[in-house]
Amino acid sequence: MSTEVFTSDFLVIGSGIAGLTFAIKASDLGTVHVVTKKKDFDSNTNYAQGGIASVFDPHDSIESHIKDTLTAGAGLCNETAVRILAESGPERVQELINWGAHFSTRKNPNGSVSLDLGREGGHSYNRIVHAKDLTGQEVERALLDEIARRKNIRVFENHTAVDLLTQHQLKLTGKHINSYNNIRCYGAYILDNTTGVVHLFTSPYTLLATGGIGQVYLHTTNPAIATGDGIAMAYRAGALIADMEFIQFHPTSLYEPGHKERAFLISEAVRGEEAILLNSRGERFMEKVHPLKELAPRDIVARAIDMELKRLGDQCVYLDISFKDRDFLESRFPTIYHYCLGAGIDISKEPIPVVPAAHYLCGGIVSDLNGRTSISNLYVSGESACTGVHGANRLASNSLLEGIVFSHRAFCHIKEIFAPDNKDALPPFPQWDKKGTFDLEEWILIQHNIEDVKRVMWDYVGIVRSNRRLERAARRITLLEEEILDYYRRSTITSRLVELHNLITTAKLIVQSAMLRKESRGLHYNTNYPQQDESLNGSYIISSQQQPLFMKISEISFT
Ligand code: FAD
Ligand code: SIN
Repeated sequence: MSTEVFTSDFLVIGSGIAGLTFAIKASDLGTVHVVTKKKDFDSNTNYAQGGIASVFDPHDSIESHIKDTLTAGAGLCNETAVRILAESGPERVQELINWGAHFSTRKNPNGSVSLDLGREGGHSYNRIVHAKDLTGQEVERALLDEIARRKNIRVFENHTAVDLLTQHQLKLTGKHINSYNNIRCYGAYILDNTTGVVHLFTSPYTLLATGGIGQVYLHTTNPAIATGDGIAMAYRAGALIADMEFIQFHPTSLYEPGHKERAFLISEAVRGEEAILLNSRGERFMEKVHPLKELAPRDIVARAIDMELKRLGDQCVYLDISFKDRDFLESRFPTIYHYCLGAGIDISKEPIPVVPAAHYLCGGIVSDLNGRTSISNLYVSGESACTGVHGANRLASNSLLEGIVFSHRAFCHIKEIFAPDNKDALPPFPQWDKKGTFDLEEWILIQHNIEDVKRVMWDYVGIVRSNRRLERAARRITLLEEEILDYYRRSTITSRLVELHNLITTAKLIVQSAMLRKESRGLHYNTNYPQQDESLNGSYIISSQQQPLFMKISEISFT
């Protein structure tokens, strides 16, 4: 099979909440190609349990949602982005409902029906819109159904984006790219995983919506797709990247001995229904740590668990909700109830063994308030983006919301400049160059490299960091990068090889950012600098084109 060129008005890379909501809207303007490296439903979105934070309770307020988000963000949020997030929430959630998403409802005493709003850590009110504990699955289903109804959208499953198309591939002479603001994106090289052929997908507008990075760590709640591909691709192309040190560890993933590719999440909503955390001695340790106890912000709960495990030499702590009625638990948390039962734990009778696991990346590709990146015509939304809404720590259930809000804004921005003939003026790009590459026979070496990266990151760049651990991580990641780049250049490309290439780049960016931040703040806790330093109220901005910059995300603008 030979290389083809697929041209569309919009190229969307990723089929989670951010990519699909953008694609639906863009299809009103023109043709959309959605490229996704797995079958339809495999995304972080699909596994989201808790829900979508948004103000629907009449006693709640937008100001309160903003305040809670800023408090969690520990001084690093872009306040304008946070205001946009909270204000747009109800309208965007309603749009999901209009597209067919069914969220849990409750009957009020006066007989009216309203959304059932859950509670999660750091929120001052019940404001989590949810579909039992299957929110992401329900949203993904509704969006895929809507996509199927749209004639302008073509979805390419089992296709992996390898690299962005910029002037670099055109090998333009006389136009030296020496700063971030003269790079332009024209689409991407996309590998068809089934045939092994790399095709050219060209488009005047590309949206990166490739999700998170959890697979960089040994223990994660994220599925196998979360290998930081979009961030690594954008970095290679010269985009600005920020806040990569802020990795959120979810306090409560199910403890199951033996390594699993994805740890099963026990939603924070379980603590929202009054579950308590106990150590192996049966002590409720969160009472001594924070006035909000189990509903303290996630970084605090995860660190408290980590300390408890180290103090007592235990493998897990326990989350107890067994005092609630079985019927209630089965109906409110069907996924969790049945998964645990399958693992031999009846949550209505006994506490659930839990441990923290890597869960969410607050940083990513720097974007302005309209989803624009530093690369012209390249937009970003969802977990790959750094809009500044999360700062140093994301408030629970703000990420699905971020995806829908900023995909909408990216769409609105493009709508103003869109012309149907934009795609006719795209330059011709060379085919993917596979000269001098060989089929990789030593797969075991790749597998070992992946495990090495994950272990280094877990052991040295985890919940609690120190200068010594970070230096050790940097040395090992540099060595692993050399080995991986060597294979990458010599081997015929496969999806797994692309992921390994991106995992090591992502790991490098996290370590580099963690070493730059000489304080403890939000999710970044370094024992050498245990306090927050107010003179460091800004972000480290990294790019492959220049030295790191230190500035506020809100001060960055793209023309
Ligand atoms: P994703 O949903 O991860 O989608 C990324 C897409 O990109 C996938 O389709 C993937 O196949 C594709 N992709 C990646 N790389 C490539 C490539 N190279 N080529 C082609 N395609 C590619 N957030 C909340 O707000 N509320 C919650 O209750 C909640 N619960 C969560 C529970 C779990 C277990 C997890 C893991 C996360 C949870 N989160 C929650 C976080 C939230 O789900 C994610 O941040 C959000 O879904 C990210 O959406 P996204 O569209 O950016 O990316
Ligand atoms: C959860 O249900 O605990 C996850 C919520 C989130 O990550 O926002």
